[in-house]
Amino acid sequence: MNERPFPSPLLAPTCDDRLIWEIWLSRYHLPALTVADQIGLFSFLAQSPATIEEVAVGLSLGPRGAEVLLGLLSALGLLVQRQGHFHLSDEARTYLLAESPYYHGDILQILNYPVTAATLREWLENDRAIACGGGEEDVLIRAWESGEMSPEMAAKVTSATHAHSFPAAMGVARNGDFSNVHRLLDVAGGSGCFCIALATRHPNMHFAVMELPTVCKLVEQYAATYGLQGRIETIAANMFTDPWPSGYDGVFFADIFHDWNRAQCLHLAKRSFEILPPGGRVFIHEVLLNDTKDGPLVAAAFSMTMLQLKGKQYTARELAELLQVVGFIGVTVRPTYAYYSLVSASKPAE
Ligand SMILES: C[S@@+](CC[C@H](N)C(=O)[O-])C[C@H]1O[C@@H](n2cnc3c(N)ncnc32)[C@H](O)[C@@H]1O
Repeated sequence: MNERPFPSPLLAPTCDDRLIWEIWLSRYHLPALTVADQIGLFSFLAQSPATIEEVAVGLSLGPRGAEVLLGLLSALGLLVQRQGHFHLSDEARTYLLAESPYYHGDILQILNYPVTAATLREWLENDRAIACGGGEEDVLIRAWESGEMSPEMAAKVTSATHAHSFPAAMGVARNGDFSNVHRLLDVAGGSGCFCIALATRHPNMHFAVMELPTVCKLVEQYAATYGLQGRIETIAANMFTDPWPSGYDGVFFADIFHDWNRAQCLHLAKRSFEILPPGGRVFIHEVLLNDTKDGPLVAAAFSMTMLQLKGKQYTARELAELLQVVGFIGVTVRPTYAYYSLVSASKPAE
């Protein structure tokens, strides 16, 4: 009970409290989506739109539970109710069906651990990776820094990053400007999804993914799935400690700078500059934080995830400064897909 005396006279609030309600109840959004994915709700409704009762019986939910879940998922925009039947929205059909190439299920399941206020407080106070949810993130950053990742962890993390990145990769292929780039090195390229997307768009470009050895094996499998074996080379290396290959006129990073601190990012920018020929180009694909550091909401919240690693979402100005410090010129920023933008710059021509 608040012991402070109430102001007198008592004035009505100057604004209503919807914002607080929305934030308070947002705690159910992600678990509801994750459960729906786990129980196969989206594939159930893909076979045939269904009523609350049909969903309850078909997926072994209580009738009240089915009503509440379908209501929340509809309000979130994942389902559409028509004459008592629940259908998939375009977003659910595109991103939540396992047979879709853009299925996000693997990233939902890997992030399925609680972030309590106590956990978050620890991250904020320590400003570094702290074990949580079974220590997964702590283990991850140590594997990445040492360059040693088990095949099991590589498979789990790579399927999650693939799920997260493949739609954005298609956006990069459609909207990125890769003119005059013939040989592209994708540093820490995960599944190779950006090279896969770009290879379908640029038949004469050559691609290489530089990754940890256990991930390189997976890149070959992903490339083969899309009939691109031979078009996408793999280079097994620790990007922090091993030599980088030469012979590339473009160096590409997607969701890499946000994992690391400024000194580590500077190292990556410097190595790129060193291996590129004059006129060569560097590309950084990220969800950018506003230069004023006050949004957008997704970039600000994505930074919370990066607190578990070493980085944060950078602003366009911060990335431009990093590139200019090592010698790049002509920085441009171009929106590519959803919340993502491509920051690019050139090594000066001699
Ligand atoms: C956030 S994921 C991004 C993957 C991919 N670029 C994408 O956007 O889908 C980070 C990637 O960096 C790779 N990585 C981490 N540390 C590395 C290192 N020391 N050397 C090479 N690759 C590394 C990981 O294996 C992982 O695939």
